[in-house]
Amino acid sequence: MRLAILLSGRGSNFQAIHEAIAARRLPAEIAVVIANRPEAPGLGLARNAGYETHAIDHRLYKTRAEHEDAVIALIDHAEVDFICLAGYMRLLSPPFVRRFQHRIVNIHPSLLPSFPGVDAQAQAVEHGVRISGCTVHLVDQNLDAGPILVQRAVEVRDDDDAESLSARILVEEHIAYVDALIKLGRGAPIVEGRRVIFATRDS
Ligand code: GAR
Repeated sequence: MRLAILLSGRGSNFQAIHEAIAARRLPAEIAVVIANRPEAPGLGLARNAGYETHAIDHRLYKTRAEHEDAVIALIDHAEVDFICLAGYMRLLSPPFVRRFQHRIVNIHPSLLPSFPGVDAQAQAVEHGVRISGCTVHLVDQNLDAGPILVQRAVEVRDDDDAESLSARILVEEHIAYVDALIKLGRGAPIVEGRRVIFATRDS
């Protein structure tokens, strides 16, 4: 299974995927790592790990479509099975999503459909939920809304703030992302409406 990783920042989810592959827990190959911000620390991590990396700075393109065309050219060239959004903080246009239907994976730091959008962990603390967590899902044309692959729950403590909750959710994110990719690596899932049925090894 060949992967493209798209990121915008720190890159800890990229790092978790990389480490799982290196430890042979995840039978996959990272073919290319693309960031929309040249200064993204995750891009440096990927470069140091020896991957093909590209900074495709969205600020240098006139339109979203032109920026996406540059990203798509790299993805096509890399011939990947899945595109993993790992803290990629740009909305993908409907044509981009359609082109890679059921092949774009995202991670979000809440139990979707609760708290989509930015600052999901702060939203959870403010709302007073007792359980939050993370969601790995297929990307569709709506924000943080596609069919769910894996979720992991995290208890919200009385003394939590957005920062402390984010740190505990992040630990689960790294497990959840690798888990989802292991499951996808067994074969293309069946997507029935919003429900995902993973392939088993023998099917
Ligand atoms: C992660 O917490 C991820 O869930 C979140 O950005 C962070 C990236 O961290 N993504 C979203 O909020 C997407 N809506 P990382 O760069 O260390 O992987």
